[in-house]
Amino acid sequence: MVPQWVIEKKRDGGRLDDVEIRAFIEGFTAGSIPEYQMSALAMAVFFRGMDTGETAALTEAMRCSGDTLDWAGCPFPTADKHSTGGIGDNLSLMLAPLAATQGVAVPMISGRGLGITGGTLDKLDSIPGYDTRLGTDRFREIVTSVGCSIIGQTARLAPADKKLYALRDVTGTVPSIPLITASIMSKKLAEGAASLVFDVKFGHAAFMKTKAEAERLAESLVRTGKTAGRRCVALLTGMDRPLGRAAGNAVEVAEAVETLRGEGPADKRRLTLALTEEMVALSYPGRPRHEIASALAKALDDGSALRKFREMVEAHGGNARFLDDPTHLPQAGTVLEIPAPAGGFVQDVDADAIGRIVLQLGGGRKAVTDAIDYAVGIDRLVQQGESVEKGQPLMRLLANDAATAEALVRQAAAAVTIGAEKPETVPLVAGRFE
Ligand code: URA
Repeated sequence: MVPQWVIEKKRDGGRLDDVEIRAFIEGFTAGSIPEYQMSALAMAVFFRGMDTGETAALTEAMRCSGDTLDWAGCPFPTADKHSTGGIGDNLSLMLAPLAATQGVAVPMISGRGLGITGGTLDKLDSIPGYDTRLGTDRFREIVTSVGCSIIGQTARLAPADKKLYALRDVTGTVPSIPLITASIMSKKLAEGAASLVFDVKFGHAAFMKTKAEAERLAESLVRTGKTAGRRCVALLTGMDRPLGRAAGNAVEVAEAVETLRGEGPADKRRLTLALTEEMVALSYPGRPRHEIASALAKALDDGSALRKFREMVEAHGGNARFLDDPTHLPQAGTVLEIPAPAGGFVQDVDADAIGRIVLQLGGGRKAVTDAIDYAVGIDRLVQQGESVEKGQPLMRLLANDAATAEALVRQAAAAVTIGAEKPETVPLVAGRFE
């Protein structure tokens, strides 16, 4: 294989075969194909696209660049969920133990926050003692004995993706459906779960800005997953407004605990139930949907999902005291309420603005190497459609010093729009692909 011939073929709109794609990715991973040639191919793919077969071959080549997990000895069917990321999106924390209550084993390998969107891994790292860096053997033991485990991505899982993502980030080649698909799917397939549910978000705080783009990504993920022999479903969900009432790390863990108690914001509960239902239905195809739905609601209301979460936290070495008393999570030194400038109905809560505020409070990273402050964030955030009185708090800023919080007051007030009429709310789930 001559790398420049492969680049030229794609540049001219040709179709790459499996052998060319595999050889290119192997060469790039091993270092014999330099970054400039990989970048050129990524740009050619960006402009020319890839068909389903090419995307599947690229995914497979990237999956095989590192370790792959096999769950053949696990007594339960395995399933996982991937979200394309949003503000207040802590659903993995509830969904993994909830699915485990129904005999689904959840081996979940999560990432850190990307841009303004939070990452499950950062949220788990805010739990005192919780070890997100367990080796594969312990991960396997916990998934098999508890039913769910969430850890961080290891350097040995799809290393070609790690290398290629870093290049795409600096060569303008991130927003390409085949490249995004191969990136997400190579990691998910290496993790080995038999069923995969995708939460593809769209809106101004999401990676995909429009519903049409999200549909294309959802279709591509599902098609590629099925080509690789996995059972897959994708839900399209809106990300113009944050999910729930909290954004940050420790605050989102606290809100997950409320939801696992059968309390918490209604939108989080509904979306957690919807996604977990898909995981259970894919894992047990004969089980009636209505029966799955009521078993899941019961598991949230009767404390079984919370017990599973406690087992998972303890298996990871975490101190589970925060489950009974949230003050055992990192606490911010300064709490500042943002008063409503007028009374009326909440028309909109700008998820993008909320994400930016959390980042400036120190709850996200400006550079990959930045340390996160787990205690800071936003809580008690109003939601679209609620009525507020003038002066009533719209949210609380949780900061580690008063000056940082004060500097964000205007931005925080501007993130919420208030008007006289009660707004129409959009459905939480806007589409489904299987
Ligand atoms: N998330 C990923 O893992 N990869 C992409 O390319 C985009 C989002």
